[in-house]
Order: sequence, then structure tokens, then C-alpha cells
Amino acid sequence: MYKITKYSYLFSTFLLILATTSCKEAKKVETENTTETAEQMSAQPISKSEFGTLPNGTVVDKYTLTNANGIAIDVISYGGRITAIRMPDKNGKVENITLGFDKLKDYLADNPYFGALIGRYGNRIANAQFSIGENTYKLGANNGTNNLHGGPEGFDRAVWKVTPKADGDKSVLVLEYYSKDGEMGYPGNLATVVTYTLDNDNQFEINYEAETDKATVINLTQHAYFNLSGDFSKPITDHKVKIDADSFLPVDENLIPTGEIRNVSGTPFDFTQSKTVSKEIDADNKQIALGGGYDHCWVLNGVTGNLRTSAIAMHAASGRKLEVLTTEPGIQFYTGNFLDGTLPNPAGGYYGKRSGFCLETQHYPDSPNQPKFPSTKLEPGERYKTTTIFKFSIE
Ligand code: BGC
Repeated sequence: MYKITKYSYLFSTFLLILATTSCKEAKKVETENTTETAEQMSAQPISKSEFGTLPNGTVVDKYTLTNANGIAIDVISYGGRITAIRMPDKNGKVENITLGFDKLKDYLADNPYFGALIGRYGNRIANAQFSIGENTYKLGANNGTNNLHGGPEGFDRAVWKVTPKADGDKSVLVLEYYSKDGEMGYPGNLATVVTYTLDNDNQFEINYEAETDKATVINLTQHAYFNLSGDFSKPITDHKVKIDADSFLPVDENLIPTGEIRNVSGTPFDFTQSKTVSKEIDADNKQIALGGGYDHCWVLNGVTGNLRTSAIAMHAASGRKLEVLTTEPGIQFYTGNFLDGTLPNPAGGYYGKRSGFCLETQHYPDSPNQPKFPSTKLEPGERYKTTTIFKFSIE
């Protein structure tokens, strides 16, 4: 359930522009904005270059956000994807710590959502359908019979309108996408704005906002895979992870939550104290077997809506640390169990099993079909608004 607010100027303007301009006109607006921001960009540490061209001729741009401490984050307009996060280790060696590709064609091919913005619904919706009132909505099935991460052409495959903004010493990118009523089967025209902000405290903040004109469901997240070692030929099982959650959601054989909220105590899912991932990732445990490792949603402690530290990942050898703060009620800890050595790593070789982990902040999977879970329904007149921060440091 989301806070009811008055329609913001931002959204009204956005909806108005999208509703009244043709594609050609929209393109003109974008060009004007790009010219306008060129001056702002000279004052901001954001660079822009061409990343590639889609088969339909659309140019995909790459933006690089930098901060005063040597962190650089590359973002492309295709899927709002983070393609690289370069950061120093404890000896000052700068390495990329997120899995990605250097060619657009690899993002266009089948891949497990590397660095992507996920919408309209993060994780699975059972049997690719849900109901609101009398209406049943059928979605595209792209994971057996389920809808995964919004379906076959989700937000990860949309071209976002990207605008660099000036905000003091912060590097800001505003990404906008207008998803039409019925897209991938979801009801309502959905105006989405995601803001990426990198500051000099090494925080990468992600703000998600959306409004609809018809009752719908929504669960946006970011699907970055991290390997804090900077060496993607090594699995992430040597990282230490802490998750502030006393319970998690057991799944069935289709990785759909069973509805049970189970205490982590005495199970391999207990990350309330920092623990090396390898310790119990292959434990003789039914839930571990179903996920092929960790691929579950943890029920976060604290109050939904309050920004709180929910997970910490640490890599001792490099000294790199990632803290995840969120307003969301859940976090999907996925240890890259399905990575199978077929996708090319630009640094050489291929991405192997467990070469990256994700900490996807979100509402619970399959919430639209599970009345006991916190609601993911969004009504006209309400504004969806969530925040997640990836905070980087060295210890
Ligand atoms: C899911 C995994 C899935 C991965 C890539 C994660 O969010 O939990 O089951 O394989 O995304 O699609």
C-alpha cells in the first residue's frame, strides 16, 4: 500500500508530455534536454557517450557518474542498466565490482538481468496471472508458467529517457519510462521515474516513483550483481554477508513463496550475524536444494517505509564493503546459482556459477496472489515511492 499524495508537478508534466506528443516530438524534447544539460554537465562529473544502436536504429547512451573518492558508475539508457561500478580496494587498486558486458548485443541476447532496472514486478508472479477485484490479468510467462521480473519485455529491455541533473556536488541521473496500459499484460498507464544519485559519501541512491491511471500492481528493483573482489573468475562464496532479517520466505519447486514466513534461527538462512556465504550455501537443506543455493526473499526487520540498513556484504581480501539501505519490506539474496559459464566477461573468460550475488530490495515475490503479504497494489491518485541505497566503503 502506498502513500496517497497529490499528483506531483513532475508526474503531471510527464504524463501530459507523453500523452500529447508523438514519438517524433518526444525525440525533439529529448534532444533539447540533452543540449540543455550539456552546460550543466560541464559543472557535473557526468560524461555521456554512445554505447550502441538497437536494431530499430535507436541509439543507446552510456553515462558515467563519478565522485571525489574515485568511484565511477556506468549506466546505459537500455534497461537503465548499471554496466560497471569501478571502485578502489584497500590498496587503491581500482576494479569493476559489478557483472556486466561491454557490448550492447550481449544485453540484447538472453541474460539474467545484469544491472537492470526491474519492472513492473520484481521476481515471480505465479502462473503469470493475478486479479484485482473482478478483473483477472494474464501476463507473459517467461519462467516456466511464471512471470519473472515483469515478463519477456520488461523494464530491463525498455529504452529509458535519461537526464543528467545538477544537485550540488552530487551526480544525478533521472530515468523516465512510460509503460502503456496492458504492456506485458499489466493494467494501467504507468509513469515511472527512477533517480540514480552518487554522492561523495560513496552512496549510490536509487529512488523509484510511479503513478498509474488504473489499479495495478508494482514492485520495482535493481538487479546489479556484485563481486567485491573485482575478480569475476572467483565465486562470491568468500564474501561475508549480514542480513537484518529474523525470517525468510520458503519457496516451492517453482521458486514461488509457499506463503509461510519461517524463522531463520537454526537454518542456513540465518544471516543475522555476519557469515561467510560458503558456510551453509551447500547445506543439506530442502530450501537450499530448491534454490540451488540462496535464491530467497528475506523478511526485513524494521518498519517498511523507514530507510534502514538491511544487508552488509564484505570482502576481506580487497577490504571492499557494500551496505544496502532500503525502505522496502524484503530483500532477495540471490547467489548467482544459475550463472553457468556461457556469458562473456569483458575482462576475460565467462561468468561462472556464483560469480556474482544480488541484493534486490523489494516487496515479496508473488504478493499479488498472496493476500497475507504486504500489498503491492497501486491505485490512481497514489504515488509509489521507495528508496534503496548501495553504500560503498573500504575497511
Ligand atoms: C531470481 C532468480 C533468477 C535471477 C535472474 C533473481 O531475482 O530470484 O531466481 O534466476 O533473478 O533472473
